[in-house]
Amino acid sequence: MRIGIYPGSFDPVTKGHQDVIDRSVKLFDKVIVGVLKNNQKNHLFTEEERVDMLNAVTKKYDQVEVIPFEGLLVDFLKEYKADAIIRGLRDVTDFNYEIQLAQVNKILSNNIDTIFFTTDSSYVNVSSSIVKEIASYGGDISRFVDGAIIDKVYKKLGVNYGK
Ligand code: PNS
Repeated sequence: MRIGIYPGSFDPVTKGHQDVIDRSVKLFDKVIVGVLKNNQKNHLFTEEERVDMLNAVTKKYDQVEVIPFEGLLVDFLKEYKADAIIRGLRDVTDFNYEIQLAQVNKILSNNIDTIFFTTDSSYVNVSSSIVKEIASYGGDISRFVDGAIIDKVYKKLGVNYGK
C-alpha cells in the first residue's frame, strides 16, 4: 500500500491544490492531505474550516483522508507510515523554496522523498494568497476555487460579492 502525504496550509484550498490531489490519487493507494495547524502562520481560516473545505472537495475520493498536523512533517509521515511527500511546483520561486524543504526533510528522515507535480498550466498563477486578495476587493474567484468554497471566502472576508 503506497501512502503519499500532501501537506500544506490550504488557506483556502484552490483548484491548483485539487489538481495535485486529482493526479496523486492515480499514483498512490492512499493520499493523506495534511493540514498545517495554526502556528505562527496567520491563517485566514481556522484549522477546522480548512479541513472542512478540503473534505468537501475531496469527498469523491475514498482513498483521500484529510488530517490536521502540527510539528515536523517528517514525524507526521512516520506516524502514518507514509512513503512520500507530495508537493506542487508552479514556477522557479516555488522551486527554490521546495528544493530546500525537500532536502531538509530528507536530512531529517533518511527515507523520505518528495514527489513534485508540475502545476497544470491553467493553475500556474493560482495561490491561496491571490485568491484572498482578489476576493477582498470583490473580484471573481470562481476560476481559482471550487464552487463549494467561493461563498466561504467572501463571507470570511466580509465581502458582499454579487449580492
Ligand atoms: O502550503 P504551505 O504553507 O506552503 O505548506 C508548507 C508546509 C506545511 C509544507 C511546511 O511549512 C511544513 O512542512 N511545515 C511543518 C514543519 C516542518 O516540518 N518544516 C520543514 C522542516 S523546516
